[in-house]
Amino acid sequence: MSANGQRYNVGGLLLDRPFKIRRLGHFGFNITKLAEGREFYGDLLGFTVSDQADFSRAPWFPKDAGLGDCHGWFMRHGTDHHAMVLFSKPVMDQRADRKFAPEVTINQITWQCGSLKEIAEAHSYFEAQQIRIQRVGRDMPGSNWHTYVYDPDGHTNELYYGIEQIGWNQNSKPRAMYYRGFQEKPELPQMSEAAELADAQAKGIDIFSGHRPALPNGGASYDVDGVKLPRPFKITKIGPVGLFVDDVDRAEAFYAVHLGLTRSEETRYRGARNVFLRCGAEHHSLALYPKELRGVLGLSPHTTCMSFGVEVANYTQLRASVDFLKSHGCTFVDIPPELYPGIDYSAFALDPDGHCIQLYYYMEQIGWDGRVRSTAERRPVGSHWPEALEPLSDSYVDQTFQGPFG
Ligand SMILES: [Fe+2]
Repeated sequence: MSANGQRYNVGGLLLDRPFKIRRLGHFGFNITKLAEGREFYGDLLGFTVSDQADFSRAPWFPKDAGLGDCHGWFMRHGTDHHAMVLFSKPVMDQRADRKFAPEVTINQITWQCGSLKEIAEAHSYFEAQQIRIQRVGRDMPGSNWHTYVYDPDGHTNELYYGIEQIGWNQNSKPRAMYYRGFQEKPELPQMSEAAELADAQAKGIDIFSGHRPALPNGGASYDVDGVKLPRPFKITKIGPVGLFVDDVDRAEAFYAVHLGLTRSEETRYRGARNVFLRCGAEHHSLALYPKELRGVLGLSPHTTCMSFGVEVANYTQLRASVDFLKSHGCTFVDIPPELYPGIDYSAFALDPDGHCIQLYYYMEQIGWDGRVRSTAERRPVGSHWPEALEPLSDSYVDQTFQGPFG
C-alpha cells in the first residue's frame, strides 16, 4: 500500500516506497544491569563481543554524573559485526542526540535493505512523509550506512546497508578507520569497502589492529553437533521482535505502509488483536500486541518489548538450551501459543532486567502466494516435548547459517 500514490523504481522494480526491507539485521537493549546483561547475552546465550563502545568520550556525556559503567557492547552470532547491542540505560537516558520514550528499553530495531541508494532515498521519503527521523549517516563501529526513524510509540527503527562482516580471523575494523563514519546523508556514489581498506593502508593504518575476542572462559565442554562449544547450542538467527504498543492499528499502519512489512496473520487473545508482520519468507519478523496484555502476561512493566527471538540451529539444541539456561538459574515464563503463531516449540526466558527472550528453532515459511497454515494444518504442541519430531514441509529450509558454529 502506497502512502502517497507514488511508485518508486527500486532496482528496476516499481515499489510503493524507495526501499525494500530484506531481513531483521540487528537489535539492541538499553540495560540497567549491564554487567549481568553482558553475562546473560555473552556467556549464556553465546553472543561474541565484536567491539566495545565507551560513551564517556561522547560530547553529550555528563561528567561526574555517577552513571556507573559507561561502556556498550556490540555483539554478534555470525559474520555481521553486530546482531545484538547492549548499552547502559542510565547512560542512554542522557543522550542529547536521541531520546528514548518512557518504557522504551529497545535501543534499536534494525532492518537490512538492498543497497546504499535505498538508504539514501529512504531518508528523502521519510522527510517527505513527515516521519520523525532520528539521524542519517554511517556509524562506526559496524560500518553500516543508515537512516533512523521513530515508530508512533517511539521505538527506533534503523534501515541499513552494508554492515561490516567479521571473517575467520575475528578482527573488527580498527578505530583508526573510523574516519569513514558519516554524521550526515552521504553523497552518492561512495567508494567501495575494498577501496576504503586500500586508503587506510596508504595512510599507514594497520587494518588488522581492531578488536579480536579472546577465547571464552570456562572451556568448551559441549559437543554441539560435532563442534566443541561452551554451551550446548548455537544461535543461528535473531528475531522476531515483539512490541507492546498503545494502538495496534496505528502501529500496524506505520510498519505496513511506511516500512513496507506484510501482515501474515492476526490472532485474538482475551479479546485483544495481535498482528504478525513479515519482511521475507519467515512467518513474522515483527509482532504487535496491545499494551494491556503486558500485565495479563505478567511481563515486566518497565519495557514495551514483549519478546526478542533467538533461533537456535535445531530442535535438539532448543531442548538443550532450555536445560542449560535453567541450570544456570534463568527464569522462564509461560506465553500462550496464540501470541507466537508460525512457531511450534518455543520457550521464553527472562534476561537480568526482565526482558523476555524467545528461544525457538523453527519458523513457518511463507511462499509466493502469501498463505499461512491454518490452525488445523499446524503441529499441535503439548507440554511434553518429545525427543524427536516428524519433519514439516518447511523444516530446515531457512537454516542456512553461514560459516562455522564457533
Ligand atoms: Fe544499528
